[in-house]
Amino acid sequence: MDLSTKYLGFTLPHPFMMGSSPLADDLDMVRRLEDAGTAAIVLRSLFEEQIVSEEMLTHDAMDRASDVSAEATYFFPRSSDFAFGPSDYLEHLRKIKSAVGVPVFASLNGIRLDRCVDYALQIEQAGADALELNLYFMATRPEQPGSELEDLSLDTVRAMRAALRIPIAVKISPFYTSILHFARSLDQAGANGVILFNRFYQPDIDIDGLEMRRELRLSDSSELLMRIHWLALVHGQVTCSLGVTGGVHTSSDAIKAIMTGASAVQMVSAIFRQGPTIVAKVREEVSHWLEAHEYESLGQLLGSMNFTHTTDPSAYERANYMHVLRSWKESLR
Ligand SMILES: Cc1cc2nc3c(=O)[nH]c(=O)nc-3n(C[C@H](O)[C@H](O)[C@H](O)COP(=O)(O)O)c2cc1C
Repeated sequence: MDLSTKYLGFTLPHPFMMGSSPLADDLDMVRRLEDAGTAAIVLRSLFEEQIVSEEMLTHDAMDRASDVSAEATYFFPRSSDFAFGPSDYLEHLRKIKSAVGVPVFASLNGIRLDRCVDYALQIEQAGADALELNLYFMATRPEQPGSELEDLSLDTVRAMRAALRIPIAVKISPFYTSILHFARSLDQAGANGVILFNRFYQPDIDIDGLEMRRELRLSDSSELLMRIHWLALVHGQVTCSLGVTGGVHTSSDAIKAIMTGASAVQMVSAIFRQGPTIVAKVREEVSHWLEAHEYESLGQLLGSMNFTHTTDPSAYERANYMHVLRSWKESLR
């Protein structure tokens, strides 16, 4: 079965790959993932704050600030708490590049990533095949309109695009008023791919200890539903590639993501739970499913369930919503 896919300009043998995470911190794990057939490796993100602080030669100052300052830096972990500083990150990237043959993508996380263009150039020089930009922010000031945050993101993409030769993928959150418009703007600003969706940090509260609980929970398949909904809407409306991250645990999840338009299917929680061989399992099962359903290639499946076949997606959406509310009794049976 031809499972090949085009993603960020690469022709990959199939769409299944490890997503950005500390899984790539360990060279042995990276080799195991390659043996399991991952189509690419995505490194964990380096944070804008780490890069900017090093550029200001205040690597230690950030630590000092975290002891004495009431400013925002107070909240940041100490530089020694990060697995990699900016120079270690480049070194690790070089090591991974020489250890594996699959494309290796680096990742940056921030709000004002346009401040990190010089560092992104070093990432390119260190051999990254592409760069993921994880645009991670929460609008917490009432005077800050959403459009301002979107403009910051678009400025970042334009600045990175002007400086870099490697492809750029932008990992976005679901919290935009018009995801379709924003995805299209990213595309027009020069992004080669958009990845739906970031999982946001959702703190819990310890009601006895009166403390915030910072826990990172792994996903399950239910998180995929929001993603396939939006993939189906965005696919066909942008020229860049689409990737999915969040909630892919089984071959059925992967098939749904591809049907709705994902040409790259990233997995993290599934690999944490089941180990690298889940990548091979999903790939094999998707191949069997395609054969059993008489598809000639994965390309034939890609985007086949997108919304471009619907004349009025908005009316269709509302009609479905009304339908679901009317049929709640059967749904809960
Ligand atoms: C332990 C852990 C660390 C992660 N670190 C990063 C990161 O550094 N950068 C990033 O873009 N995403 C990071 N993610 C998010 C994943 O790339 C992915 O988007 C998210 O886990 C949803 O996919 P999943 O359902 O397959 O886990 C991390 C996820 C986990 C579980």
